[in-house]
Amino acid sequence: MTDEILQQQIEYYRARANEYDQWFYRIGRYDRGEETNQRWFNEVAIVKSALYQVGAVDDILELASGTGIWTQELLNIGKKITVIDASEEVLAINRFKLASPSVKYYLTDLFKWQPDTEYDLMFFAFWLSHVPPQLLDSFLTKVYQSVRVGGQVFIIDSRFEPTSTAKNHILEDDGNIYKSRKLNNDQEFQIVKIFYQPDELQYKLNKARFEADVKVTDNYFIYAHGKKI
Ligand SMILES: C[S@@+](CC[C@H](N)C(=O)[O-])C[C@H]1O[C@@H](n2cnc3c(N)ncnc32)[C@H](O)[C@@H]1O
Repeated sequence: MTDEILQQQIEYYRARANEYDQWFYRIGRYDRGEETNQRWFNEVAIVKSALYQVGAVDDILELASGTGIWTQELLNIGKKITVIDASEEVLAINRFKLASPSVKYYLTDLFKWQPDTEYDLMFFAFWLSHVPPQLLDSFLTKVYQSVRVGGQVFIIDSRFEPTSTAKNHILEDDGNIYKSRKLNNDQEFQIVKIFYQPDELQYKLNKARFEADVKVTDNYFIYAHGKKI
């Protein structure tokens, strides 16, 4: 069951590549009106300023980079960025938007990925929530292996808030980790989506041997800044 859904999850983001940014910039189905959109952007600004607290580093690894919404921020922090994603369509958009010789792109399924390099900073946004619980510990072991001692990890993800998703997505707090997602053309996919509480994420990161500080914004985001000890 999970293997099939993880494959659908990749297919979903491949098919959604050209409309993906509408979610982040609150366009079309994601436009919730001026006041609610502004609340979203204010909370984005809080998370961005926390990310900038990381300070300048040499090498960054960004997992599940998508179309580059955060890669473009990472370019202000790191000298070199290695980017991994399983969708060639989102990587093409990322490459086109950033047009930077400092970013290297790899088309890789993160559930098959074997880390072979240690970085100063590992970053992933809106990815952890797509990792099934039974694969979380092995995923975090790979994160640990990819960060040098004293290096950092920065994670951003979604809080459970119905206005964060599209108007035609029903976000139910029913404990079901499989959620239905639609494209603008109504094509439907099943994906994994888990909403972490700060104490759960803190526990998982500590277990994976990161010292971590986990915070939330008022409505939309959970974010963690950790250090490998
Ligand atoms: C919610 S998006 C996040 C994109 C980006 N980090 C952002 O914040 O805009 C999830 C990303 O995970 C990628 N993805 C899905 N399954 C994957 C897998 N098995 N391995 C690597 N990337 C995957 C998708 O292609 C998509 O770009």
